[in-house]
Amino acid sequence: MLVTTKEMFKKSMEGNYAIGAFNINDMEIIQGIVDAARQAKSPVILQVSASAIKYARMGYLMKMVEAAVEENPDIPIAIHLDHGPDFETCKMCVDAGFTSVMFDGSKYDFEENVRKTKEVVDYAHNKGVVVEAELGKLAGIEDDVKVESSEAMYTDPNQAKEFVERTGCDSLAIAIGTSHGAYKFKGEAKLRFDILKQIKALIPNTPIVLHGASTVIPELLETCNKYGANIPGAKGVPDEILHEASVSGVSKINVDTDLRLGMTATIRKVFAEEPSAFDPRKYLGAARDTIKEIVYHKMTEVFGSNNKA
Ligand code: G3H
Ligand code: 13P
Ligand code: ZN
Repeated sequence: MLVTTKEMFKKSMEGNYAIGAFNINDMEIIQGIVDAARQAKSPVILQVSASAIKYARMGYLMKMVEAAVEENPDIPIAIHLDHGPDFETCKMCVDAGFTSVMFDGSKYDFEENVRKTKEVVDYAHNKGVVVEAELGKLAGIEDDVKVESSEAMYTDPNQAKEFVERTGCDSLAIAIGTSHGAYKFKGEAKLRFDILKQIKALIPNTPIVLHGASTVIPELLETCNKYGANIPGAKGVPDEILHEASVSGVSKINVDTDLRLGMTATIRKVFAEEPSAFDPRKYLGAARDTIKEIVYHKMTEVFGSNNKA
């Protein structure tokens, strides 16, 4: 069934587990994710970026999500806008039937972020849609802003409390050391669990969101590179750290890069091993199976959302 994330997060906070939010761009990705959720009996968030809407087109995306929901009446499914850049995009998604939207005002200063987030919250809440906001800056490249790694980019716990109170946002994305894409850490992977703890102590009832949380699964990276890719030295957040986040108050974990790597690894492998194959179903079907395996593993072995549907 199509739901907002309100009930999902309430249960995840009570039960100390996290819900996976997976980026969708096409039919195979949607089917892989939802098939895994059904098998794991897990709630799931399907999230769409503005560039995914541009790529797949809103009408197609909504109809495919609708089909996924119809096919899975027992699985709570939320449709969420990822990194909404402005009020207009958030409004468009609320009006199109999304159950949740993110407004990402992390590139603005605190006051501007509060003002713009509140504008989205007022509009969305009026239509029964929940809002995720972001405070703090993820390292690496976010939108067109390159964020350098420094203490200043982590979410300030006191500011987080003030931000949530003033905006009325439903969940908060925080910066504790993750970053988007395949290159998250130069040395050892480390997250600032001390900051997460302080934030949870100050706003215990606000669901916390972790962006940039792909593992950059080593086997997938290896397969990509073995079959002609050039993605050397990539590194993500290991399963153990994500599991710790899941039991420490993180309610939503965002994953896109792992799905991209999974799809690329699989298609490259099929192309290399079966050069005579040219039926797209051969490689897209294999890619869909890989997406399902990745998502199932995360739900059952890492986030702990299995059997929570
Ligand atoms: O955090 C961003 C997601 O990975 C979506 O990326 O804007 O390229 O679709 P995208
Ligand atoms: P990854 O790049 O680590 O998959 O993060 C995805 C994300 O945060 C989407 O909002
Ligand atoms: Zn993100």
